[in-house]
Amino acid sequence: MIKTVKDVDLKGKRIIMRVDFNVPMKDGVVQDDTRIMAALPTIKYILEQGPRSLVLMSHLGDPAKDVKKAAEKAEKAGKTFTEADKEKFINGKNRMAPVAAYLESKLGQKVVFAADALGQKAAVDALPEGGVMMLENTRFHKEETSKDAAERDKMAQELATYGDIFVNDAFGTAHRDHASTASIAKFMKTEPVGGFLMEKEVKYLEPMLHNPPKPQVAIIGGAKVSSKIAVLESLLKNASALVIGGGMAYTFLKAQGHSVGKSLVEDDFIDTAKKLLADAQVKGVKILLPVDHVAAAEFSPDATPVAVDGVCIPDNLMAMDVGPKTIEEYKKVISTAKSIVWNGPVGVFEFDAFAKGTETVARLVAEATGNGAMTVVGGGDSVAAVNKFHLADKMSHVSTGGGASLEFLEGKTLPGIAILATK
Ligand code: 3PG
Repeated sequence: MIKTVKDVDLKGKRIIMRVDFNVPMKDGVVQDDTRIMAALPTIKYILEQGPRSLVLMSHLGDPAKDVKKAAEKAEKAGKTFTEADKEKFINGKNRMAPVAAYLESKLGQKVVFAADALGQKAAVDALPEGGVMMLENTRFHKEETSKDAAERDKMAQELATYGDIFVNDAFGTAHRDHASTASIAKFMKTEPVGGFLMEKEVKYLEPMLHNPPKPQVAIIGGAKVSSKIAVLESLLKNASALVIGGGMAYTFLKAQGHSVGKSLVEDDFIDTAKKLLADAQVKGVKILLPVDHVAAAEFSPDATPVAVDGVCIPDNLMAMDVGPKTIEEYKKVISTAKSIVWNGPVGVFEFDAFAKGTETVARLVAEATGNGAMTVVGGGDSVAAVNKFHLADKMSHVSTGGGASLEFLEGKTLPGIAILATK
């Protein structure tokens, strides 16, 4: 079990805390505050303990990746992507100041905004007793995400001077080996501890991976087999049933010899799919693939839904959602599960005409929670789905991590968790 803020004396201490405030923004306005609200209990608890100061740091977006993409696009168009363009189109969109202001409004306490993550030692020391500071986007410094550990260390060493104790509550970024998420731990004189969000995420995700209440059902959807194969293999260890839905299901159906029309297929993964199906059979894990579909001639929100009453899909159609017979199959396994882990939608739920399968899965998982099953939803799209159908508070746990929850369930070591002290 990780040590948390409750296991250390925070009184009079300077706290440096990593949060994941990588929230969707539009024109400088926070669009979804889930991650900010999820970190509030830890922030409030720390402040109640009478610390000397609390410095918060986070990334927002991925400026380096965006610059690379924009520069490539400009090059193709025969233009140059300048420093001024970077400021205007990339950094301008990823500034942390509006997030700091948002936090201030929710916290009801002044949050000093530091316009650069580095060079703030004097400003931290000058904070009033119990003062809170939010640093500018840590990813504005390339050292944050550098592949070179020495470069990361250089940044981490400076960040470490802002605090006596490092608290990591950024579960959503725990899979990143970055200066502010992991390297910083090396330069602290005290043991790094987790916040309450980190504790809660681990508390729910860990049993899903190692010792789930049985029978366990894993519902894995989304577009690509390639990004989900590791988690499927990992969950095969304990699950009684694997529900495979979404675009990735069609690679599996093709692997079984069915015609899938124009549906998304990763041909390079047909053999992988065959192997997983064979492994499941050896282990006695039931695999649920779609047995009927809602299809369309084109991938569009206005496409006319066509019911396909059988496994095979005509050549002119692509599957966009699962059909009613498949949903009946889902009901049988989900209603008897004692634990359910769900990552990835089973259809194109963003388009209303193709949302029924995913909405029904969300309702079934919510119902199972009500009947005592432990249910965990992770991954950006399935979380967006439970939010869309207003069912988030009906699940045991909705993870704040996309990539992080997936890698956790794959059984990988997450650098941001590995550095935390345990008890
Ligand atoms: C996320 O949104 O998944 C986390 O904040 C991590 O962001 P990243 O994928 O840009 O590292």
